[in-house]
Amino acid sequence: MKKNFFSTCANVARVTIAGAAFTTFAAQAAEQPAARGEYLARAGDCIACHTIQGGKPFAGGLKFDTPIGAIYSTNITPDVNTGIGKWSYDDFARAVRQGVRPNGETLYPAMPYPSYARLSDDDMKALYAYFMQGVAPVPAHNRAVDIPWPLSMRWPLGIWRTLFAPKVQPFDASRYNDAIVARGAYLVQGLGHCGACHTPRARTMQELALTDLEGDDFLSGGAPVDGWLPSSLRGNPRTGIGAWSEDDIVRFLKSGRNLHTAAFGGMTDVVQHSTQHMDDADLLAMARYLKTLPASGAKETPHAYDPAAAGKLQNGDASARGAAVYRDNCMACHRSDGRGYMRVFPAPGGNPVVQGKDPTSLIHVLLSGSTLKGTKSAPSSFTMPPFGWRLSDQEVADVSTFVRTSWGSAGAPVSAEAVAKVRRTVTVSAPEMPPGASLKR
Ligand code: HEC
Ligand code: HEC
Ligand code: HEC
Repeated sequence: MKKNFFSTCANVARVTIAGAAFTTFAAQAAEQPAARGEYLARAGDCIACHTIQGGKPFAGGLKFDTPIGAIYSTNITPDVNTGIGKWSYDDFARAVRQGVRPNGETLYPAMPYPSYARLSDDDMKALYAYFMQGVAPVPAHNRAVDIPWPLSMRWPLGIWRTLFAPKVQPFDASRYNDAIVARGAYLVQGLGHCGACHTPRARTMQELALTDLEGDDFLSGGAPVDGWLPSSLRGNPRTGIGAWSEDDIVRFLKSGRNLHTAAFGGMTDVVQHSTQHMDDADLLAMARYLKTLPASGAKETPHAYDPAAAGKLQNGDASARGAAVYRDNCMACHRSDGRGYMRVFPAPGGNPVVQGKDPTSLIHVLLSGSTLKGTKSAPSSFTMPPFGWRLSDQEVADVSTFVRTSWGSAGAPVSAEAVAKVRRTVTVSAPEMPPGASLKR
């Protein structure tokens, strides 16, 4: 573990000054919060936003597009000149929980401080210990925002913060009648910042609910992030995770896959950097808490498997809209019965992602393909090839409609126009060919 001796952390100072005899006891005291902090930094997925591809961990520079221009995440390594090496604990806690820098500037809410506001003092201290002692300092200057003046002025952010960011107050576990559920609520609402993606936002960009106490919008499904739609995490039987067991949720968060589905889009990164590293007790707590969230919105009937589509495909009848496209392109992996292969190829039948009101994710995965990445507990990786380079908008619309309406699923049909709209916003490339081979349309 790397140490930063400029750190103001008293324990570390004591270790250096008192020398070897004292080291064991004091180092343990200093090391344990840092180890705990490393775990918490994973649960909070700090690395995902504060690291560029191929860059040094936590050195910042990742670009975030906002409606008025681009901003960049910052260097949160303990480098004294360019990072947060000179920050006191109070500076750090204020930035992470309240979104205020030591110089008084307010942070853009791309940094999910409205969620982190719930962090306990103990967890904040452990995080601070980790960032000061466990993270290697990296000299890297922060990039200025690409927003023209006067919009680049930060004082309006302060007004936003006053209006929409929650007050920092201790998390009240007694609101939940079960200690495990309370732990799950703390993690989902706080460090996990699941709502940053999975809760719809108002026009003014604040999440419509930051906790279950603020209403049914909480985790009811967010707007697309990079063309991937974070679906509902509430009890809706078709479009949410009402049909999943606690164990299904735990497996998904731990391995990126379960009997029903496989993580893709933005959720792949969440599983890779964050949830696969969490311990089983915390994953179970999150699952148990999510299972307490009732269904929201229009009433849905539970999915009931219908064998008709499978029967037709198996008898060579591909007359239904999109059935032939499915038979020729998808069936080898996802099977005629729409049940896929357990933990290898997800099941399109009854799948919340497939039946959701907004088919953006479905269209996106068909156009661009996706790779289910290996995780510690499920090391194998499986790839869905991209189809956008060889299927027309009409064909993608037809096969989307087929999977949304077969095997008992109840999604609305998809139009070619809807596919064209998604196609304009996503990367569509042909799969890589072995050397010497070529693909002609
Ligand atoms: C969803 C993306 C995202 C996540 C997750 C995230 N951050 Fe940030 N963070 C940002 C962005 C973007 C900024 C810069 C905001 C700005 O310029 O106003 C930032 C700023 C900060 C700052 C202020 C630094 C400075 O120099 O002003 C600190 C400290 C910080 N983050 C710590 C953390 C920690 C600790 C975690 C994990 C618990 C974390 N962040 C997770 C996006 C994120
Ligand atoms: C960066 C955005 C983002 C964050 C943060 C995020 N998710 Fe997701 N999540 C997504 C997207 C996009 C999908 C849809 C793709 C998929 O199903 O894998 C998704 C899907 C899921 C699913 C599968 C739902 C289904 O019906 O298939 C679960 C469960 C889930 N997320 C749980 C969580 C939990 C718990 C957290 C917080 C610890 C979280 N997510 C944080 C983006 C995010
Ligand atoms: C070579 C095998 C293969 C073929 C062919 C294939 N897929 Fe997939 N599909 C996968 C894999 C693997 C995933 C998981 C990707 C991930 O998690 O990133 C997936 C994911 C999906 C999903 C997302 C479901 C979920 O819950 O994760 C849908 C929907 C889907 N495929 C539909 C189709 C359709 C429709 C076709 C035909 C146009 C097709 N697939 C062709 C392997 C395949």
